Amino acid sequence: MYDIHQDIDHQLVSREALQEKVNELGAAISRDYAGHNLLLVSILKGAVVFMADLMRAVTIPCAIDFMVVSSYGGANTNSTGLVKIVKDLDADLTGKDVLIVEDILDTGITLSHLVPMLEMRNPNSVRICSILSKPSRRKADIEPDYTGFEVPDEFVVGYGLDYNENYRNLPYVGVLKPEVYSK
Ligand code: IMP
Ligand code: MG
Repeated sequence: MYDIHQDIDHQLVSREALQEKVNELGAAISRDYAGHNLLLVSILKGAVVFMADLMRAVTIPCAIDFMVVSSYGGANTNSTGLVKIVKDLDADLTGKDVLIVEDILDTGITLSHLVPMLEMRNPNSVRICSILSKPSRRKADIEPDYTGFEVPDEFVVGYGLDYNENYRNLPYVGVLKPEVYSK
């Protein structure tokens, strides 16, 4: 039977490390947003796994919502240009404390366009929680308010992150074997 784990060259962040970090982030968010109107906003599809774990590590009342964005002219492993909202939020952001839940902050271009778009809707605040960050790739002047792990400049998959829509279901973050790209 073909097993996706056999395509992984090495793990960067283990399942256990992810779980521990998500619990820490959930505790920090619960402290920081106590008494606030917290709305967790997940960017589909990459952040869905992190969202599902993070929301269960948050112990204060919170609502959740989802959006789909795409970058114009963005190829598979790159993101360039402006972002387009493909599926918008259902929630009215007025007075909400919005926390964007992301899979990875890479160039930062996506969120550097999205944050001002959300800020125009009269929220109380808009901040970012990203489970992964690649600081060496940053092109936009933006940093997560909460970061799980900094990863090197390598293409990573798992824990929601995909390569051609595959590997999102890996329970850890890893790097693919080089031969996978030539398949
Ligand atoms: P940005 O470059 O910060 O705008 O990143 C946009 C999106 O590209 C992220 O939310 C991911 O969905 C995707 N992405 C960036 N780096 C990787 C990676 O190493 N593996 C899988 N997806 C990635
Ligand atoms: Mg994403």
